[in-house]
Amino acid sequence: NRCFYFDDTNSTNAFMLGHAAELKSGDICVAEYQSAGRGRRGRKWISPYGHHIYASLFWRFNQDITKASGFSLVVGCAIVEVLKDFGVEGLGLKWPNDIYLDHKKLAGILIEVSQTTSQYTDLVIGFGINMSMSAEQGELIDQPWSDLSTMARMPDKTALLIKLHAQLKRDLQLFEKHGLSEFATRWNAHDLFINREVTLTMSPNAVTGICRGIDSQGAILLETEQGISAFVGGEISLRA
Ligand code: BTN
Repeated sequence: NRCFYFDDTNSTNAFMLGHAAELKSGDICVAEYQSAGRGRRGRKWISPYGHHIYASLFWRFNQDITKASGFSLVVGCAIVEVLKDFGVEGLGLKWPNDIYLDHKKLAGILIEVSQTTSQYTDLVIGFGINMSMSAEQGELIDQPWSDLSTMARMPDKTALLIKLHAQLKRDLQLFEKHGLSEFATRWNAHDLFINREVTLTMSPNAVTGICRGIDSQGAILLETEQGISAFVGGEISLRA
């Protein structure tokens, strides 16, 4: 595989999308700084210099896009498990793809589709991890955030990236072969809200129920008086 390394770029996702035609599954782009880091829902991802991870992995998924919905869950599991291996405690996943530390956002995943045919789907899987945020940098972030600076020993960034790359490749291959079957158990073990009462907002509607984890398609399961139902979209939060 190839690794494209930038001191400064607009967005590692944008770089990979722009070069998709030359890329192979597993190629990765890493930057120290992004001038136009992208978040989900059209938001910005504040990407200052410092000890942070901004990376994007290219992946040709050999199935059509309708089967790709589980990708973000697989990536979330992989990132949490690698961070755990480095000794990070207090991690949790919030469906469908936010990584929390001590109930504040530590890392985010943004998957963008480069090209899709009936045979394959080319994806750019971007992830950002806060490692050590200064107070001034943190003030720019519009939601509660956390970083790894509370750890007794900060993980080495290169070692972390190498492990993440290897585990992501392994897990994405596993997902292509067997779907989400094995990941539901892994996801449920990390799900922040499992067995808790939550509200799922799909503007203008909202459903309240007990979170029962994910199904084999990656949908979130909520138990209400009507029984257990699966939902494919929306924003989940603890019941106020
Ligand atoms: C989110 O909003 O939670 C997703 C954030 C994803 C940020 C990463 S940083 C590397 C990659 N390049 C981008 O421009 N965004 C993603």
